Amino acid sequence: MTDNPAPDDPATERATRQKQVAGERAVDWVESGMTVGLGTGSTAIFAIRRIGALIASGELHDIVGVPTSSASAAAALALGIRLTNLGEGVTSIDVTIDGADEVDPGMNLVKGGGGALLHEKIVAQASRREVIVVDGAKSSPRLGTLHVLPVEVVPFSAAAETAYLQSIGASVVTRMQEHDVVFVTDETNVILDCDFGPIDDLERLNALLHARAGIVEHGLFLGLATDLLIAGPDGVEHRARP
Ligand code: A5P
Repeated sequence: MTDNPAPDDPATERATRQKQVAGERAVDWVESGMTVGLGTGSTAIFAIRRIGALIASGELHDIVGVPTSSASAAAALALGIRLTNLGEGVTSIDVTIDGADEVDPGMNLVKGGGGALLHEKIVAQASRREVIVVDGAKSSPRLGTLHVLPVEVVPFSAAAETAYLQSIGASVVTRMQEHDVVFVTDETNVILDCDFGPIDDLERLNALLHARAGIVEHGLFLGLATDLLIAGPDGVEHRARP
């Protein structure tokens, strides 16, 4: 650890600025009285901070947040955002703002780089509006080109699912955290990061993964995003699902 960490390189700083612009812009969809899904990651955090600031200034009121991870919950609580969850009787969320690791021209996504894909997908499917906020580097012609596909499995079947995923064409790496400790999700599962290369048939892979009992969920988000905000050097592009 150093007292004076090196500043981010220019590309990282640029990406961070774009994440901030996209994350904050998405809050334009949030109105007083709404139930709001709070995404996970370095882009969604800008939306959470903006919502917290608008509540503090009185411009937003009666907001209830549904966090997609323990990290988002902690950040929101620290900002004074009241929280609930889908286990407390909430069945419908007005708008969710979340990030993504890769987005294709059809607004399909790879998510789960932060390990929160299961709760993120549950919150997304309960949301009337799912706004995805990304910097320009996440745009891809075909999912699997830029990012591995995270697959969440129960620890009991991790070895068997690794073999299954390899049998359908993936290079598989068990996600680790610091000190050689296996990464564990909020639901105490493990993540297998799967490199399938560019994926030809998203629906087929989705079906193959859902056919396995030991696979809890995976990071392909097909048809769930209603709005996409992509920040680039010339501003923010908004795409809406027709
Ligand atoms: C969390 O599990 C992920 O799905 C994130 O939403 C995704 O990894 C995007 O994160 P960043 O905004 O930090 O790139």
